[in-house]
Amino acid sequence: MLGIGLNSIVALAYIAAALLFIYALAGLSNQETAQKGNNAGVIGMTIAVAATIALALTSHPDRGVLVTAILIAVAMAAGAVIGIIRAKRVEMTGMPELIALLHSFVGLAAVLVGYNSYLAPDRASAALGGFHLGEVFLGVFIGAVTFTGSIIAYLKLSGKMKGAPLTLPGRNLLNLAAIIISVVLMVFFVRQDGVTGLGITLLVVMTIIALALGLHLVAAIGGGDMPVVVSMLNSYSGWAAAAAGFMLGNDLLIITGALVGSSGAYLSYIMCKAMNRSFVSVILGGFGSDGAVASKDEEQGEYREITASETAQLLKDASKVMITPGYGMAVAQAQYPVADLTKRLRASGVDVEFGIHPVAGRLPGHMNVLLAEAKVPYDIVKEMDEVNDDFGDVDVVLVIGANDTVNPAAEEPGSPIAGMPVLRVWEAANVVVFKRSMATGYAGVQNPLFFKDNTQMLFGDAKASVEAIISAL
Ligand code: TAP
Repeated sequence: MLGIGLNSIVALAYIAAALLFIYALAGLSNQETAQKGNNAGVIGMTIAVAATIALALTSHPDRGVLVTAILIAVAMAAGAVIGIIRAKRVEMTGMPELIALLHSFVGLAAVLVGYNSYLAPDRASAALGGFHLGEVFLGVFIGAVTFTGSIIAYLKLSGKMKGAPLTLPGRNLLNLAAIIISVVLMVFFVRQDGVTGLGITLLVVMTIIALALGLHLVAAIGGGDMPVVVSMLNSYSGWAAAAAGFMLGNDLLIITGALVGSSGAYLSYIMCKAMNRSFVSVILGGFGSDGAVASKDEEQGEYREITASETAQLLKDASKVMITPGYGMAVAQAQYPVADLTKRLRASGVDVEFGIHPVAGRLPGHMNVLLAEAKVPYDIVKEMDEVNDDFGDVDVVLVIGANDTVNPAAEEPGSPIAGMPVLRVWEAANVVVFKRSMATGYAGVQNPLFFKDNTQMLFGDAKASVEAIISAL
């Protein structure tokens, strides 16, 4: 009786948590509601964890409640300590690689759950026979691909491994072969009668193939496509969690996994659209090769420099200013002086707006988060599509630490970033580019904007440059 009572309460708690997760996703889609969404997610996860612990405590009567409680407490304490230390240390610019690393844990968890569920199935799973074996096989496959793929993404994003894509001959055929062999192995695997020697062999061989596939899939992707890879791995980790949910018979894990899986897939789609790349071409990789990097030595002509006080004068004479920030603003932590400059210019009657490229920075919404943090009013922070036809009316564009996202080469066929929509800043009367050197941006492609007649370079750390402009004003 007590068991039925607890199960019903847990089921209700799971429904409440699932609804809170959906509310969290809805909230996170907009800056103004993001905080609320985040809170909903935290409450949902607290309910989910509490309900799962309650269930776990009563589901192992042979082991005793105390031992189960100690095991859970030790695991949670270890995870919490590592998590808190990492989260406190990470810089905003290091978020993508941390996220990639976290995805690898979800993948590894799915693999471990899969093996455990195969070798020691509970009675309900064992009764499902071949269906359960199918769940195990798929869960381990997705988990293993996510695990190694995420580790490679982490190594690339943190600069511990070269960003250029690994282009093995016949790489697409290799991937296809890995998938076909895995499907054949699965057919034999689900026909096994529970745990057999052959079953274990099939599972281990598939795991090795899937680990290699994950490694190769992400190693083949480079340059500007990495953001899509991170959100794609986010999606994979969701499907891996959903598969683990099936194996464990945990409905909430299935729902949560599906939410993460589908929102990750949708985010990948949006980012592909922003870079004008098809999802398939991103997955198949090969972009951002060394061929693209080679173009940086090309002779582009002369560039002109400008000082902070000259920039201040330009701004004083302007009536419309557009600021297009990029990754360099994040590195320099220049958002606070940028917000201050914006406030001063607006107070003296200058119309100031921000033009945000969808993949500016190193993670989706990177610039919006920084600007919101520095309290720049939301209504002057515009999306690329909202401002891209207006540059003709702009007197001064301040390109603060952005490079690829304002590169006119994207509009020329044959460029490695050809087809990626960019902010057409060069259509403005004056462009001031804030950066430290003539180095290329993330995609390793030279930027003809720097050599245009209406462009001037303001060299130095973006924060120091903006502060110098403020004092000159
Ligand atoms: P980038 O093209 O990476 O250019 C950033 C520029 O900032 C560099 O040219 C760098 O030049 C400058 N910079 C760095 N530190 C600086 C500092 N302290 N002060 C002043 N300037 C500094 O940035 P972007 O225009 O934002 O484009 C983003 C790129 O990253 C795209 O290729 C995108 O595909 C990729 N990416 C995006 C994401 C997402 S989802 N947003 C994730 C991963 C990758 P100097 O070194 O000369 O200073």
